[in-house]
Amino acid sequence: MEPNSVFSNTVLEGRVALITGGGSGIGLEIASQFGKHGAKVAIMGRRQQVLDAAVSYLESHGVEAIGLQGDVRKKDDASRVVNTVVEQFGKLDILVNGAAGNFLVAAEDLSPNGFKTVLDIDALGTFTMSHAALQYLKKGGQGKSSLEGGVILNISTTLQYSAEWYQIHVSAAKAAVDSITRNLALEWGTDYGIRTNGIAPGPIADTPGRSKLLPEESGLSEKDVTPFVKIGEKWDIAMAAVYLTSDAGKFINGAILVVDGGQWLSKPRWISKEQIREFGRIVEKRSREPQSPSTAMKSKL
Ligand code: COA
Repeated sequence: MEPNSVFSNTVLEGRVALITGGGSGIGLEIASQFGKHGAKVAIMGRRQQVLDAAVSYLESHGVEAIGLQGDVRKKDDASRVVNTVVEQFGKLDILVNGAAGNFLVAAEDLSPNGFKTVLDIDALGTFTMSHAALQYLKKGGQGKSSLEGGVILNISTTLQYSAEWYQIHVSAAKAAVDSITRNLALEWGTDYGIRTNGIAPGPIADTPGRSKLLPEESGLSEKDVTPFVKIGEKWDIAMAAVYLTSDAGKFINGAILVVDGGQWLSKPRWISKEQIREFGRIVEKRSREPQSPSTAMKSKL
């Protein structure tokens, strides 16, 4: 059972949020937690049945929700969905760009169109939706430098910080998403007071992404992939989303919050603490000892 939220259930009261990719996984949990913290939510996705099931789930938890079918890659879908949210709920305060595409493929087997498809969903989709939402996210008038406009939250990853097997397309796409986050934070933060931030989740249990990236056909468990694996819950990402989109995050703009239990920093411990305690100071002491002329000569060569 998920822990209780540490936030008051009114921190998002009166806000209207649109979550792309909100029909399942992390996006649905964000929609659910936004609703439980007072927001009205619209979820966007490509499959109507998935949206219908998600809206029923949200409503069964007392969340006021609508599902709007559309593809983030299509400019017309983006405008139609954003306009419908405003028609139905009267405004738009928060846009979460959660829609993403992913599959495992070796770089040499990936067609340029396969590469483009993921760039289109993740990077172009994030920009297209943000662009369509801009007119409604501008609050407090143009030219305001205080951060009192709407909020954009982009869901990213950590794999682009280094490199990842069979993920060249996703890595390139998420690097672009992070770049969009920072550039919108600069331009729209300055001009319109819109805060744009990102969340970079690590592996999260019970999500479509996880089942795609560790397919059961592989016969592998999480521990086979990395001994340092730390698996988060969708709740962990949703709480970070509540923090960044509520007034708790009112001075945060252009940040990309890694929510992965520190996994991306993990590396094998190459020597034990006991060994370091044993000889760490001995090595240091030796390094301060005067060197004999022959050793000094050798170290110069
Ligand atoms: N391996 C290699 N190439 C693949 C592939 C795979 N598993 N899946 C799709 N492609 C390629 C296709 O071959 C095609 O390229 P081509 O025209 O050169 O043959 C290209 O990608 C587009 O495929 P298509 O099936 O037409 O794309 P789509 O728009 O219908 O679907 C996907 C997009 C492929 C990203 C699909 O997985 C998707 O809809 N994902 C959304 C959900 C998701 O991934 N969630 C997890 C998020 S972490």
